[in-house]
Amino acid sequence: MANKVNRVAVIGTGFVGSSYAYALVNQAITEELVLIDMNREKAEGEAMDLNHGKLFSPSSTKVWQGEYRDCKDADIVCITAGVSQSEEETRLTVVEKNTKIVKTIVEKVMESGFDGIFIIATNPVDIITYATWKFSGLPKERIIGSGTLLDTARYLFMLGEYFNVDVRNINGYVIGEHGDSQLAALSTTTIGGKLLLDIVNSDSNYNRKDIENIVVNVRDAAIHIAERKGSTYYGIGIGLAKLTKAILKNENIILPVSAYLDGEYGHHDIYVGVPSIINRQGLREIMEIDLNTDEKEKLAASINILKAVMEQVFI
Ligand code: 2OP
Repeated sequence: MANKVNRVAVIGTGFVGSSYAYALVNQAITEELVLIDMNREKAEGEAMDLNHGKLFSPSSTKVWQGEYRDCKDADIVCITAGVSQSEEETRLTVVEKNTKIVKTIVEKVMESGFDGIFIIATNPVDIITYATWKFSGLPKERIIGSGTLLDTARYLFMLGEYFNVDVRNINGYVIGEHGDSQLAALSTTTIGGKLLLDIVNSDSNYNRKDIENIVVNVRDAAIHIAERKGSTYYGIGIGLAKLTKAILKNENIILPVSAYLDGEYGHHDIYVGVPSIINRQGLREIMEIDLNTDEKEKLAASINILKAVMEQVFI
């Protein structure tokens, strides 16, 4: 990591990878951006397209279609490659396919001499993040999955709409699996420092049922979007850019990402979405927010679901 300028390599230039690249260039987050894809022409086309916007962008990000050897000097390698779940496929089939794809990718990245931080967006992200940690041999702090970053953004956005308060004034997290067993940590969600549940209980304009509907809509958001436009990519692209910026600019901000639990929340040997402090070292520290009994049980159930799937894939 002795290079003078920041370099991000994106593996997979499908909708998610290219939306991420677009967000990086638009926000001047990195000086160098390498696009790598099995389909070299696709990556090349994306690089050309992004370079043609340079005149109008706030940065002079150097973008090119690259090779795995370019990962050697990368500070961050972000993996977005993989297959999406289709109607005929089970979740497990996708896990197996994407674990294989990511194994090949991680081996090639590590062969380049890469010694930076992996960001993982490939689904099912918690399991693929764990797999990347295993395949890479890098310290757990340097493998970060997008986890419940997007779910949390959806949660705060929908609460913001409901309460008509700017999303940045609402604090709270969706934790657990980036998937159906996720949970909103409702008991610690605050609006302008007030507990959301206290507001709901004391103000007749709001009710608990609406909040529960929001939580369900957050969980099902990806399906709702996929029904309308095929797949999701802008939200995750911007979220990945935020995570990248937190690392490269050493921000020490708290983001809910897929992090390795080593006793935190009473769980071990699992990557799962929890709020974490992110800085130039990667994942500096996991924040153990207070959970009530119901939330603790839901988190444990979510982790058990992940572990059950992982046992079938890794053993
Ligand atoms: C999303 O939540 C599908 O993981 C993707 O939008």
